[in-house]
Amino acid sequence: MKLSKRLTQIKQLVAPGYSHIWDCCCDHGHLGAALLSQHSAQIHFVDIVPTLITELESRLQQHYPDIAERWTTHCLDVAALPLEQHSGRQLIIIAGVGGDLIQQFVQTIQQQHPHLNLDFLLCPVRHQFALRQTLIELNFSSKNEALIEENQRFYEIMLVSADNNAGTSISPVGEALWQADSDEQRDNIQRYLHTTLNHYQRMQQGSSVDVSHIIEAYRSVSI
Ligand SMILES: C[S@@+](CC[C@H](N)C(=O)[O-])C[C@H]1O[C@@H](n2cnc3c(N)ncnc32)[C@H](O)[C@@H]1O
Repeated sequence: MKLSKRLTQIKQLVAPGYSHIWDCCCDHGHLGAALLSQHSAQIHFVDIVPTLITELESRLQQHYPDIAERWTTHCLDVAALPLEQHSGRQLIIIAGVGGDLIQQFVQTIQQQHPHLNLDFLLCPVRHQFALRQTLIELNFSSKNEALIEENQRFYEIMLVSADNNAGTSISPVGEALWQADSDEQRDNIQRYLHTTLNHYQRMQQGSSVDVSHIIEAYRSVSI
């Protein structure tokens, strides 16, 4: 199965050295399966829908019987990951769900496991600004970030750590993702900034919610 552009970019941000990688909200498990082929970590596939996990379990048994000790499926709410049962470095990937839901997952996981130095690789659908606020409040640090466009929609990908000293401070609007190393990327970045500003300006005009601080923050981005 060919990985989508977005999942390929997420996979590329996974560094070696993790003992456990959690592909949360895994759906059909495409990302986790790709990681299984490239990393020596134990890969955990997590989704809340029982039929998805049953089907995934049989596909994994069919395709990866020789390394069955390297993967585990969990029919589970992401808020209830059994992280304390494992040792070594753990990476929690949450992609393809709303940034508001990811905020709740990260807050709950961090409350439950304040002493585990966890890394999170996050790719929210919308609500990026609010998610970044939560990460700042949790005192997380940023290890890497990227911007990807797929099917005419932009996605931020954030690799962050619960260890404040593991990276740089988290910017409310992102930092590295605004740096282009090609003309094509610069064009993407400019369109993302334009789209984001338009979104918040429309929100400011059309509702009682004051988002002027968000507009100001995005206006301060220089490309
Ligand atoms: C759109 S898919 C995302 C698939 C993949 N991660 C991606 O980025 O393409 C969202 C998945 O999240 C799962 N999901 C939603 N809420 C969840 C929760 N609380 N715990 C675990 N999985 C959840 C759904 O069952 C669904 O399979």
